[in-house]
Amino acid sequence: MCESSALPALTLELTDARSRMIADVREGLLRDGQKELPPTYFYDARGSQLFDEITRLEEYYPTRAERALLERRAMEIVERTTPRALAELGAGTATKSRVLLHAMTQRGPTQYLPLDVDGDTLELTAAALRTEFPALEVAPTIADMRDDVAAHGSRHPLLYAFLGSTIGNFDPESARDVLTRIRATLRPTDRLLLGVDLIKDVAVLNAAYNDARGITAEFNLNVLRVLNRELDANFELAAFRHHAFYNVEDARIEMHLVACGDQDVHIPLVGDVHFDDGESVRTEISCKYDRASATAMLENAGFRLTDWLTEPDPLVALALAEPAA
Ligand code: SAH
Ligand code: AVI
Repeated sequence: MCESSALPALTLELTDARSRMIADVREGLLRDGQKELPPTYFYDARGSQLFDEITRLEEYYPTRAERALLERRAMEIVERTTPRALAELGAGTATKSRVLLHAMTQRGPTQYLPLDVDGDTLELTAAALRTEFPALEVAPTIADMRDDVAAHGSRHPLLYAFLGSTIGNFDPESARDVLTRIRATLRPTDRLLLGVDLIKDVAVLNAAYNDARGITAEFNLNVLRVLNRELDANFELAAFRHHAFYNVEDARIEMHLVACGDQDVHIPLVGDVHFDDGESVRTEISCKYDRASATAMLENAGFRLTDWLTEPDPLVALALAEPAA
């Protein structure tokens, strides 16, 4: 009975994810003007592994900087917000949330509700955390945060973490949508902890997305592998090159894959996609903030900034926010 009722739900979920991918690819690659793919599709098991390697690169400062900041301020954050549960959007391997979990579990029973689109990585993370924190209740959700951000079954007060400047991978309108939906799940005593990458020296930003070992380039190309596997597309990976640069006007890194030579790609259920020599598909934006732009983003989504946590000469910041009345 249980087994037969679980099967249709799982099938439906996979079908939904596939339909979403087909719609995204069709909209992004068949449009006039700049071709675009959502960064969500970087993250299969291989993409998450490559991202993990990126976080350990000399050039990629954001993970190290945010982790150091959390290590210094976690106890203070937990004392101020007194959470009984931690929810995390785009949790990945939860390397930084462990710092918060250490502080929270010292105070009492704690629930951890990670959400991620990469189910393989999420399950491994959940299993590792259950071993590391035997008293922790871990309730993972595999979902696309563009559709679902609910911390189902959470205790309160809830600390809702959205770390690593993943918010920067959304354009301003989509960022407002995601934050507004988070806001709608929160009760008055809950708090949001938002990690943002800060505007800084352009050379530092450019280096972070153009590492010498080419791991970011591999991560970028991984989206084409995913489309080849999931949609039976015939992208030739060697016919595209990684290009990442800081767009000063929009305060964001842009990652592109540039076609080396005229080419046509066939994607069943999507259609034929033509690339002129030198034409690119934008695969990611990574917006950078200052206190004013981060505060405005939060206020637009119904939050009030209560604390802005940084270091002297900061690389990243943590914004603690409460639902505005
Ligand atoms: N929070 C971690 C990981 C950041 S990498 C950190 O700060 O280091 C971005 C994470 O978001 C990945 O784990 C990826 O699988 C997840 N992700 C990307 N797009 C997503 C989406 N649309 N819905 C849910 N998770 C997503
Ligand atoms: C997950 N996200 C915040 C990373 C970023 O920096 O925008 C993804 C990434 N792209 C290239 N390197 C890392």
